[in-house]
Amino acid sequence: MARRNKIYEGKAKILYEGPEPGTIVQYFKDDATAFNAEKKEVVEGKGVLNNRLSEFFMSGLNQIGVPTHFIRRLNMREQLVKSCEIVPLEIIVRNFAAGSLSKRLGIAEGTQLPRPVIEYCYKDDALGDPLVSEEHIAAFGWASQQDMDDIVSLALRVNDFLSGVMLAVGIRLIDFKIEVGRIYEGDFQRLIVADEISPDSCRLWDIESGRKLDKDVFRRDLGNLTDAYSEVARRLGVMPKSPATKPTLIN
Ligand code: TMP
Repeated sequence: MARRNKIYEGKAKILYEGPEPGTIVQYFKDDATAFNAEKKEVVEGKGVLNNRLSEFFMSGLNQIGVPTHFIRRLNMREQLVKSCEIVPLEIIVRNFAAGSLSKRLGIAEGTQLPRPVIEYCYKDDALGDPLVSEEHIAAFGWASQQDMDDIVSLALRVNDFLSGVMLAVGIRLIDFKIEVGRIYEGDFQRLIVADEISPDSCRLWDIESGRKLDKDVFRRDLGNLTDAYSEVARRLGVMPKSPATKPTLIN
């Protein structure tokens, strides 16, 4: 089969033209980056794990009626998704203080927030994805008021779903980031959850030990990233069937 046409290459994924109009093939690389790619490494097996984990979360969301771009997984590293126009915002939902919020406001990491807090960053690598307000979003036309209402409602539904799924396997969802895209259906425009949902874009802490099971392991040099992601996949029953990660000896 002829190699697909590449549409875009990002830090962790490559997008190829899909087999039918309106579809895209999303390929998960093993590259890990942090601090706007100042720190960079190849983490063997990360792409395979994130492909499976994003499939798990996105298909769960589809099943409860939260629309996402996910159609189906194609193979170990690729999934078929709906083509959409990405809204240039990173939408962050926080349940507990951590990361840049803790730094900015001086709130100790792990402090429970009185309610989920939503933040927006403008997607622009050259600017380092700066935090922006709804005023900026409206003034510069990145999203309409109706879009913002839909974005908040999607973000909170994703938060409730992910928090519950993770709680059931002993993991606390500290915060996460999603991206949304527009799809056009006849005269109507709809917003759907796009990009990926994986331990690259969430903070996940083991409830008992506090162990970090997300990309902070890489950002802060806390150990082996694949081990952390494999632990999340194992608890959720989402294990890759080929030896992308270290083989486990039974008996
Ligand atoms: P922050 O505390 O660094 O602002 O991150 C908040 C959440 O967003 C955390 O779960 C990690 C995620 N995130 C991304 O997915 N991509 C990014 O580029 C950054 C900075 C954070």
